[in-house]
Amino acid sequence: MIRIKVPATSANIGVSFDCMGLAVSLYSSVEFDKSSEELEITGCPKQFQTRDNLVYQAFVKACEHLNKPVPHVKITIENNIPVARGLGSSAFCIVAGLAGANVWFDSPMDRSELLELATEMEGHPDNVSPAIYGKLGVSFIDESNDVQTVHFNVNERLEFVTLIPDYQVSTDKAREILPTEMSYQEAIYQVGHAVALSKAMELGDLDLITASIIDKMHEPYRCKLIPDYQKAKDICQQANGTMYISGSGSTMMAIVDNPESAEQIVSNVKKDFPNWEVNHVNVDTNGVMSEVI
Ligand code: HSE
Repeated sequence: MIRIKVPATSANIGVSFDCMGLAVSLYSSVEFDKSSEELEITGCPKQFQTRDNLVYQAFVKACEHLNKPVPHVKITIENNIPVARGLGSSAFCIVAGLAGANVWFDSPMDRSELLELATEMEGHPDNVSPAIYGKLGVSFIDESNDVQTVHFNVNERLEFVTLIPDYQVSTDKAREILPTEMSYQEAIYQVGHAVALSKAMELGDLDLITASIIDKMHEPYRCKLIPDYQKAKDICQQANGTMYISGSGSTMMAIVDNPESAEQIVSNVKKDFPNWEVNHVNVDTNGVMSEVI
């Protein structure tokens, strides 16, 4: 049996819309085993236990890419990443399916090949890159249509808290709400802030993170889709932290530089939003992991 473990991922990090993503220590896993039936799936709602299941779709894609017959397979999903909350639940499914097939056929693909396939399936690399490599990833599609990705170590002093509302935000709606153009002035603002932010994360410099994370491309529009955005932000700031919308929301991610601040955010969010899920997490540095049992 093969077990694949994938970290949750948080895209955008404020100013790095569609380019940057962070892997965090909240994990989901999938087991792949031989089966006498063509396909068995457990661990997800009945309506997803079909050939359209994203984990299976990715498994099939990798088999076809490797020119291997798709084996009869039993897929057991253990998902801890909430769906449609901006924490990379679809990246998890895609990376797990591709990695499962890769290990099934003795791992002929390296991580960069997995990333190419995963990006093709997901449509953008900002979540799948950290799901595969861990850490803080910056990615883009180059002029030959290849995925380029680099990874930054995030300073261990930084701590993160996921504030996960009990409501979803649709990614389609969160993209529709955005303007179609921006000015040179705004582009200059974003580039300067994004480059400074990546260095600030490496240094663990919370003051510089707080100054550089303030986005003008998507957060001012998307915050309107999250009714509790301002209250959540106030809780983070009262604990001397900063906060950004994770992916297209609804999750918001707090960044602090000590465990006490993280715990203060956890306890205040639990008090004000008892139905939310709140997790004190760290950066995942491994990315997708596999085990043959
Ligand atoms: N970068 C994407 C967005 C992530 O913010 O729309 C969601 O998949």
